[in-house]
Amino acid sequence: MVDDDATRQGYLVDERRLYQGEAALIVRPAGTEEVSRVMAICHEAGLGIVPQGGNTGYCGGATPDDAEGQVLVSLSRMNTVRGIDPVGFTMTAEAGVVLADAQQAAEDEGLLFPLSMGSEGSAEIGGALSTNAGGLAVLRYGTARELCLGLEVVLPDGRVLHGLSGLRKDNTGFDLRSLFCGAEGTLGIITAATLELFPRPTARQTAWLAVPDAAAACRLLGRARRESSDQVTSFEYVTRPSLELVLGSVDAVTDPLEEAYEHYVLLELSSGQSEERLRQVSEAILVAGMEEGEILDGVLAESSRQRRELWRLRESIPEAEKHQGGSVKHDVSVTIDRIPGFLEDAPSRLAGIARCRYSVYGHIGDGNLHFNLLAPDGDDPGAFKEEQGPALSECVHDLAAELGGSFSAEHGVGKLKKGELARYKDPESLWTMRAIKAALDPRGLMNPGKVL
Ligand code: MLT
Ligand code: ZN
Repeated sequence: MVDDDATRQGYLVDERRLYQGEAALIVRPAGTEEVSRVMAICHEAGLGIVPQGGNTGYCGGATPDDAEGQVLVSLSRMNTVRGIDPVGFTMTAEAGVVLADAQQAAEDEGLLFPLSMGSEGSAEIGGALSTNAGGLAVLRYGTARELCLGLEVVLPDGRVLHGLSGLRKDNTGFDLRSLFCGAEGTLGIITAATLELFPRPTARQTAWLAVPDAAAACRLLGRARRESSDQVTSFEYVTRPSLELVLGSVDAVTDPLEEAYEHYVLLELSSGQSEERLRQVSEAILVAGMEEGEILDGVLAESSRQRRELWRLRESIPEAEKHQGGSVKHDVSVTIDRIPGFLEDAPSRLAGIARCRYSVYGHIGDGNLHFNLLAPDGDDPGAFKEEQGPALSECVHDLAAELGGSFSAEHGVGKLKKGELARYKDPESLWTMRAIKAALDPRGLMNPGKVL
């Protein structure tokens, strides 16, 4: 149990400082059996349960809000990698294993656990699965849900669903693991997972490319996938204003190109071939891309140090936005062919609502844009977010919906986007989600006030 006020505070406020929570109790069970006992007691007493992992989420999904009626269950002490199967290429890890530690454990066996994101030094397996986190290598390896082969889950009344399994094929009814992935702790608590591993690539090639526009970037993505036989691991989009935020506020970063351009792509290919061979493949893609007008300029990293520097430019964008007092963040997705249309339409629609600065970047290879809006120079960022944020977000989310997209590609729903779920999800899907929630958690004790 956590009972000193300073330590409690770390659990009661979310990563973005959007919500200051309250809880009757904060408990840190050491194993599945203890989670089960806590849940059984809470169920009996009618107390709400709020599961929490690394507390790095963006939507307030792990913050409790009732000093009388909610118990925060931190999974961080459950941080054992229970085993790695080097034949079946799987890892069984407890919910509190930090992503970077899972990556290291896989690497120690000569394998790859590919779930990778800026928060990987704190984010934990249970939270990543519960929010179906994405990150920087989804294009090649999929989201957290797609990496999950089996789950151990404590159900709301304390019973344990023993679904840990490395089976690749198991056609025996409903896919329960998919149900708990993305449920954000509203149906039960994920305590452990069997996760898919991959061979470690022996070669990586990373390029920072200036492109004429997003449409050219999308064409280049198709080319890179086709001409490399699908060895593209990451295809990230960065616009000049986002790069400038980084250049202006992050230490020891430089623009890799001499001239300034409006649109960039960070392209990474990886394979089990020799570095030389992958270099040839990458160079051929870049030459063809230049000939076809998809690339204006660029650099191909010459060393792992330069590779890290290029990645740092992309990964530092959220931090650079914080230096500006933060942004009205968006995490939309559309099918890749609709990205250019989205980017073309959004500014003219937003202009009718409020003046703002843009920071647009994201995982364009997954059709996922972080379409973030900052206060105009000189304006108070807090007031901007509060006063203009709701109308700007509605406009961005409406446009994504009109294009058949999603208001939350990889950050989940939590508390922040509950209203959006009710607004944009089709009635039949909502009905089905509510029916599942009512069947598994009829008393509404699991993560109250989140998602639905
Ligand atoms: C990212 O892609 O960097 C994050 O998902 C978005 C963010 O941190 O704003
Ligand atoms: Zn992202």
